[in-house]
Amino acid sequence: MNLGMSAVANIQSTALADRNRISRLHGEHAILEARIKDIHRRAYGEWTDLDAVWSQFTEELEAHLTFEERELFDRFLREHPDEEGYIRTLAADHEEIRAAVERLGIDIQLHVVRAEAIDALLGELRQHAIWEAELFYPWLEEAVR
Ligand SMILES: [Fe+2]
Ligand SMILES: [Fe+2]
Repeated sequence: MNLGMSAVANIQSTALADRNRISRLHGEHAILEARIKDIHRRAYGEWTDLDAVWSQFTEELEAHLTFEERELFDRFLREHPDEEGYIRTLAADHEEIRAAVERLGIDIQLHVVRAEAIDALLGELRQHAIWEAELFYPWLEEAVR
C-alpha cells in the first residue's frame, strides 16, 4: 500500500503524547476484548466488582472510540478521500457498539445479564477490529513509524 509522505508528515507533526496514544491504539482492542471476557466471567460467577470492571471498560472503550473519531478519521480521509464509505462503516460500527454497551449496561444494573448479549458485543468489537486492521491501523502504524 502506498501511504504517501503527507500521511507521515501529518502524524509526525502531532504532539508526542498523541503519537504514543496512536501507537497503543491497535493493542487496545486486545485489552478491551480481555475486559469483556472478564465481565462475562464475573457475571456468571460471583459478580465480584462487576460494576467497577464494567465502568472501567466503558471508559476505556469510549476513550478509544472518541479518539479515533475526533483525531484520526478526518486525517485518514484527507489521505484517502476515496475511502469515505469505509470510514462511514467504521463510524456506524462505533454507534452500534455504543448501543450494545448501553443495553448491556442496563442488563448489568438489573442483574439480568444474558450470555448472548455479552457474546454479541464481543463479536461486534472483533468484527470492527478486523475492519480497522484492513486499512485504518496499517495507515496509522506507517504514519507513526
Ligand atoms: Fe474504531
Ligand atoms: Fe479501534
